[in-house]
Amino acid sequence: MTKPQIWVAAFLVIFLLLFLLEKSTNRSDIQEKSASSSAPQMGQSTQASSPQDLMSSIGCTGCHGTDLKGTKMAPNIHGVKKYWTRDNLINYLRNPVSFMSSERFKSYRIKYEVMMPSFNNIDVKNLGKIADYLLQLQ
Ligand code: HEC
Repeated sequence: MTKPQIWVAAFLVIFLLLFLLEKSTNRSDIQEKSASSSAPQMGQSTQASSPQDLMSSIGCTGCHGTDLKGTKMAPNIHGVKKYWTRDNLINYLRNPVSFMSSERFKSYRIKYEVMMPSFNNIDVKNLGKIADYLLQLQ
């Protein structure tokens, strides 16, 4: 190679390196941007729809306690799996009064001043999520 040829080759190599460098930094920029723009959305949707958040926003935890293990106002609702099927539990949340005849509920009526309110204004899908969550609490 002559001297000018070496210079040309060297410039070509430098351009190629700069080009690759720019490409790789661009790509990570894009990734960062898409990651930061989608992260809050994902956070919001899981936040709004998790059964725990639903129950605190609806107010279940206000009576049953933040750990759902009961307060002076309402019973422990861990382990309700032994009493309810999924469908019955959803129906119960929508209309508790129609399930009051059992001995368990008679003793609840003596023990607690307030009654379980009916949640027929809540989207059934969300009640389903809550039911699924309650049915797996031990
Ligand atoms: C105003 C207080 C109050 C609120 C709010 C409340 N509950 Fe209750 N809950 C009660 C009481 C009191 C009982 C006991 C039954 C009765 O007296 O009606 C009960 C009973 C229950 C039971 C039946 C327990 C069993 O032994 O089978 C479940 C399940 C339940 N609540 C879930 C919920 C869920 C889920 C929410 C929110 C969507 C909620 N409760 C909101 C007071 C409340």
